[in-house]
Amino acid sequence: MTTSTVYPNSASVIERIGNTPVIELKSFSTSNVKMYAKLEWYNPFGSVKDRAAFWMIKNAEKQEILKKDKSIIIEPTSGNTGIALAGIASHLGYKVEIVIPEKVSKETKDILRKLGAVLHETSDDLCPRVGAGTDQSIALAYAISKPRPDVYYMPNQYENDSNFAAHYESTGPEIWSQTKGKITHFFTGCGTGGTITGTGKYLKEKNSNLRIVAIQAQKNHLLQGLRNFEESAKPELFLRRESVVDEWYTATNEKSFRMVKDIASHEKLLVGPSSGSVLASMVDLAKENTKKDQVFVGIFADDGRKFKSLYKEIGIFTEDEFDKYVDARNHLPELAYE
Ligand SMILES: Cc1ncc(COP(=O)(O)O)c(C=O)c1O
Repeated sequence: MTTSTVYPNSASVIERIGNTPVIELKSFSTSNVKMYAKLEWYNPFGSVKDRAAFWMIKNAEKQEILKKDKSIIIEPTSGNTGIALAGIASHLGYKVEIVIPEKVSKETKDILRKLGAVLHETSDDLCPRVGAGTDQSIALAYAISKPRPDVYYMPNQYENDSNFAAHYESTGPEIWSQTKGKITHFFTGCGTGGTITGTGKYLKEKNSNLRIVAIQAQKNHLLQGLRNFEESAKPELFLRRESVVDEWYTATNEKSFRMVKDIASHEKLLVGPSSGSVLASMVDLAKENTKKDQVFVGIFADDGRKFKSLYKEIGIFTEDEFDKYVDARNHLPELAYE
């Protein structure tokens, strides 16, 4: 990616957004299905959300909404979007305030503070509940930003089409070319719906037979970044292009975390909870599949480094096991804030 903004050291970090690797998960592939993961934590701020954050900021700059050293970007988010916005904004000369549920992991909040973001904590559930009328994060972000439009800009990832465009213009084309057009099924977890609608629409335009599988979390979940669409209405951004989804899969906490452990022991990859959800759905669908030469690609949205305390608390890894995976540094690149 390129940017025309001239700020010290901004280009090198910003240019690292996108072009993440796709790897085969050999121990999970079957005779009919090859399993691939797109490792989104290779983005400089550690998740798939770097794409949406960069596209939203870039678009606001294009529209001359943002003013260097004056504008404050404010966003309600459960973590990754905040980290991406804070990291990218600080490189481009904007301040960031994040409205965040207090339940979000300590590691995530520490990273946000390290990146210079001001945090406003609410007692919400893990993810903001769009449309439920009770969502404090979204309401508070509006309450802070609305009276001062000269200073505050709220990208609002739940409605902003740049979130869709990021994946239509980058994630989709990358996967198509990385699989040489052989992908048959695309899997991703859903929060705002930006990843699934953007990537899904691009891939379907390339091959209308391709299957798009959307993963939601169970109710009352611990899967940061995902959402349950009975607890929370689908965001406006998702509703605009929902028809791209062919199949839904509901990931449980139990299966997702068990898979986090299996991925670590079989592939030596330390993944975030939602990657466990994604691979659980890929493995379950592969069991039903009878066709030959199937190519499944799943989005692994972030790695496990932010989840040390959660994984320890729920007994996925001991501290020693966790540290061993981090020390091995298998597919754990250095992040821009380390
Ligand atoms: C941690 C995490 N963040 C974000 C996303 C995608 O979110 P969105 O639907 O907002 O593009 C996912 C999807 O798997 C995720 O796991």
